Amino acid sequence: MQVHHENPEQTRHELVDGLNAAQATTSPKFLYDALGSRLFEAITELPEYYPTRTEAAILSANATAMAQAIGAVGTLIDLGAGSCAKALRLIPSLRPARYVAVDISVGFLEQALNDVQRQHPSLEVAGVGLDFSSTLALPPDMVRGRPVFFYPGSSIGNFTPVQAEVFLASVQRQASGGGLLIGVDLVKGIEWLEPAYDDALGVTAAFNLNLLRHLNRLIDSDFDPRDWRHVAFFNPEASRIEMHLEARRALVVHWLDGQRRFEAGERLHTENSYKYSVERFAALLQSAGFAHSRCWVDAQGWFAVFWAQA
Ligand code: AVJ
Repeated sequence: MQVHHENPEQTRHELVDGLNAAQATTSPKFLYDALGSRLFEAITELPEYYPTRTEAAILSANATAMAQAIGAVGTLIDLGAGSCAKALRLIPSLRPARYVAVDISVGFLEQALNDVQRQHPSLEVAGVGLDFSSTLALPPDMVRGRPVFFYPGSSIGNFTPVQAEVFLASVQRQASGGGLLIGVDLVKGIEWLEPAYDDALGVTAAFNLNLLRHLNRLIDSDFDPRDWRHVAFFNPEASRIEMHLEARRALVVHWLDGQRRFEAGERLHTENSYKYSVERFAALLQSAGFAHSRCWVDAQGWFAVFWAQA
C-alpha cells in the first residue's frame, strides 16, 4: 500500500497554532486515531445518528439507476474509505476495474482492503494513506481509465462552504471524463440534528474527548479528558453542527514548548458539520465546475446523494 505520511513537525505546528488561537481550534481530522475511527464506526450504529443508514438506504434503493447514470467506471476512488463498507456495496453495480481507497487512518485501511481483495479477487485494489483535508493530490499513476470519485458520509460537511467549493473544484479537475458520487447531509429540525451529535449513550462524547488523548501523543501535551465536557449544537446562521470540548474548571494545558490557560467554560472547537439544502449543494457543484448533476433523496428529505459529471 502506498502511504503518504504527514510531516510530524508540520502537524505539531498546526496543532499548537490552533490551540493558541483566541478561539482554540483543532482540525476534525485529529478525531481519527485508531480508537477514534472505531468510535466513529460505533456512532454510525447509534439510533440517533441517521446519516450513515439513510445514505446506505438511498444507495441500495437506487443502485441500478445510479449505475446507469454513472456509466463505465475505470477507477473508483473512495475518499475517506474507512472500513470500505460503503464501496463494497457499490462495487457489484458499478463494476469498476480498479478500486483506490484513500484514508488518513492507514492501519484501519490496510485491514479493510484485505477484505475487499478477498471478496473481489479480480478487482485491482490499492490504498493510499493520505490527508486530503487541505489538498487532494492523488499520485497520477493511481488513476487508470474513467475516474469516478466516491465521497460518501457527508464528510464534505467538515469543510466551510468556501473550502468545499475549492475542494470540489480540485476533484472536478482530477475526475475529468468521469465524475463524483457524493453524500450530503441536509438541513432538518434541530430536534433531529442535535441528538445525532449528542447521543444518549455518550459515544459521540467519547469520540470527541478521545481527541485529547490523540493530541497528547502528537504534541506531548497533558490534556486530562476528565477536565472536559462534550458540547454539540446546531448553529442556524452558519447552517452547521458545532462540536466543542468545554473546560469543566480553570486549568493550564502544557506541551513540549508551550502552554495555554483555559478558563472554566472556555471551549476548544473540534468540528463543524455543515448541512445543506439540495438547491444550495447543486449550486456549489456548479460553481466548482461540474457540468451537470442530479440527486437521490430519502423519503424524509434528510440526506442526498449527488452524481456530478466532471
Ligand atoms: C464523518 C464528518 C460526516 O459530521 O456527521 C459524527 C463526523 N462527528 N459525529 C459528521 C461526526 C460527530 C461526521 N462526518
